[in-house]
Amino acid sequence: MGNTRKPLKRHKSIQPFSREHHQGLLLCWKIRKGIQNGVSYKKIKKYNDWFFENHLKPHFDDEEKYMFPVLGDNHEMIKKALSEHRRLTRLFGETTSLEKTINHIEEELDRHIRFEERELFMLIQEKATPEELKKIDEFHQELDFIENTKDKYWE
Ligand SMILES: [Fe+2]
Ligand SMILES: [Fe+2]
Repeated sequence: MGNTRKPLKRHKSIQPFSREHHQGLLLCWKIRKGIQNGVSYKKIKKYNDWFFENHLKPHFDDEEKYMFPVLGDNHEMIKKALSEHRRLTRLFGETTSLEKTINHIEEELDRHIRFEERELFMLIQEKATPEELKKIDEFHQELDFIENTKDKYWE
């Protein structure tokens, strides 16, 4: 009866990162919606650029600074996450072949976030010491999400 599946339990220190992931998944939704509505890729890119500079880049930086060291650079899952950060950074910076690039961003950002939420963060919160969790809590600056209302192309 009903849905008895429990939501993934996230340690309170890590919850701000998960809230940022929610905004990332929303970006993918906005891109899909824009494409469906025939919005130009140039217009989508303009919003993507704003999102990357103001939200995604600081998010990647803080993950790399405070979350990933819990497992260390030699861990296979960290290697994968770091290479996805590099790949996504390159895709957001791409200025040609916009159609192809934006479709890749939509697909790969979505996949990256789901990997972190379902696998990587589970392991990090399991392995982190109380001191590490405290540090994550203290130093990660959660960015309030203030929508860029200049160009809401998905509406
Ligand atoms: Fe990440
Ligand atoms: Fe992330």
